Amino acid sequence: MTESTKFWGIVPAAGVGKRMQADRPKQYLELAGKTVIEQTLSRLLQADVFEAIAVAISSDDPYWPQLPIAKHEKILAAAGGTERADSVLSALKSISGKASDDDWVLVHDAARPCIAASDIHHLIACLIHDDVGGILALSSHDTLKNVQDGRIAGTLDRNHIWRALTPQMFRYGTLKTALEEAEGNPAITDEASALELKGLQPKIVEGRPDNIKITRPEDLSLAQFYLEQQ
Ligand code: C5P
Repeated sequence: MTESTKFWGIVPAAGVGKRMQADRPKQYLELAGKTVIEQTLSRLLQADVFEAIAVAISSDDPYWPQLPIAKHEKILAAAGGTERADSVLSALKSISGKASDDDWVLVHDAARPCIAASDIHHLIACLIHDDVGGILALSSHDTLKNVQDGRIAGTLDRNHIWRALTPQMFRYGTLKTALEEAEGNPAITDEASALELKGLQPKIVEGRPDNIKITRPEDLSLAQFYLEQQ
């Protein structure tokens, strides 16, 4: 790491969260006295490593402007996109005048409010000298099945299977180019997959299991429990 290496946060927050069946996008549901996205951003700010955090927000989002954290000096709003990858690319472009190609960006889902500062510091420590970058991930404890038409077609070797979490940490220039090249490709569901398409092999860094993504209604009470435990 050179002394001038900077870190930027990128937070895609322009999803609707259909699986929550709620009256508003999941990032605006209440969690431990705040909204989910306020919990997430507070934790990223607590890590105290970012120059700024660019948050991708949907253009018709009435909730974001009402949040006090939207006015925080380190929080910048960017336009959201059709898919998660479009939102991430839009947020990356929004800081193009400020970030250098060699700076690190950490992309973190707005819907993962239990991210611990220790996990962010661990990810950075593991990757700071890496040529490619990498992601927080969890090994699988369950046996995993390949299923077709409701029937098991095979068993995967779980020694080689990991669940991709966020943050995902890459160099600004590499990630922006990879996402631009992959634009419109539905297989790009995280940042690592855009780099994989270029033949690069991002590193896996084992993360904490409490870094869950709010996806279904029952995830909110689990997240509340984890926040209290932390
Ligand atoms: O829907 P899913 O849980 O996979 O979304 C992961 C993250 O990506 C969420 O924080 C969501 O707000 C964000 N997202 C986005 N733009 C989209 C779709 C999802 O910023 N078009």
